[in-house]
Amino acid sequence: MDNTTILKSKAAVSENPSVGQSVKVFAPATVANVVCGFDVLGFAVNEPGDEVIMRVIDKPGIVISKITGDNGRLPLDPKKNTVSVSVDHYLKHIGRTDIGLDIELHKKMPIGSGLGSSSASTVAGLFAAKTLLGDETDAVELLPFARKGEEMACGHGHADNVAPALLGGFVLIRSYDPLDIVKLPHPKYLHCAIVFPDVDVPTREARQIIRNKIQMKDAVTQWGNIAGLVSGLFMNDIDLIGRSMKDILVEPVRSLLIPDFYKMRELAMELGAVSFGISGSGPSVFAFTKDDETARQITQKLQKHLAAININSNSYVSTINDLGPKVI
Ligand code: HSE
Repeated sequence: MDNTTILKSKAAVSENPSVGQSVKVFAPATVANVVCGFDVLGFAVNEPGDEVIMRVIDKPGIVISKITGDNGRLPLDPKKNTVSVSVDHYLKHIGRTDIGLDIELHKKMPIGSGLGSSSASTVAGLFAAKTLLGDETDAVELLPFARKGEEMACGHGHADNVAPALLGGFVLIRSYDPLDIVKLPHPKYLHCAIVFPDVDVPTREARQIIRNKIQMKDAVTQWGNIAGLVSGLFMNDIDLIGRSMKDILVEPVRSLLIPDFYKMRELAMELGAVSFGISGSGPSVFAFTKDDETARQITQKLQKHLAAININSNSYVSTINDLGPKVI
């Protein structure tokens, strides 16, 4: 079944924006998988994130006039850029191919970092288009279009970055076909320390190295942990959250692509992390902590460690972003 079938109706578009009208939207970075939930769990953070400025133009179609912060890595060709391709699918769906849109994309986060970089851009673009058109349908209905962007970026339309980027908060993809998205509660004090070691790990390749067959006993361990994490979130039980965030399926393989992954985990746990793991497909790593100060100590320690082995890095500390995209 095509996932667009989850759309209940054509969008409730109420406005015909005038030429020159514009909107600027921020959409957040996301941590997908959340260690044990490969392709089914993700959450949004407050920073980093991407910005899109979208302007109505008089000629129908989509133009990308500017991309900044990408070091020339992203295509300006609207047929090849994930933002314009997703927006194009959306415009076709709502029957508004008569409209002309100019897109400026301002990358405020590293590409290929495992922080949902393409998702943040795509979601910012879709939310900008929805806002300009006065489309009041629920943001979740943009998800199939956002997944088109993911498909283009890495060959697979996983939703564990785009769903939290679009909806904010902690999200479970209970099913892909049909798409069934569940927002999960989380302890409000939960902080996330993220470190991005500046090495290249493209998601497409990081997906190719994963085993596609697993042992039943490993599956049992993994789904016990996923259920434990979800229960911990509902019960506000930080110890249960921490001990459930273990991944025996994907992490053993992907950790090989991340410099000193296990040493970084040891350092983070020594400093009081609740849990530690790979963010999305890596190379970023993240730790949950109970407070801001511990999160900052962890990012400092890990960055110092990476510098000592000649690896540049960036870091971010954030609570969980419950809002998703916003007009700025
Ligand atoms: N679930 C996806 C993966 C997320 O791990 O490949 C990519 O950011």
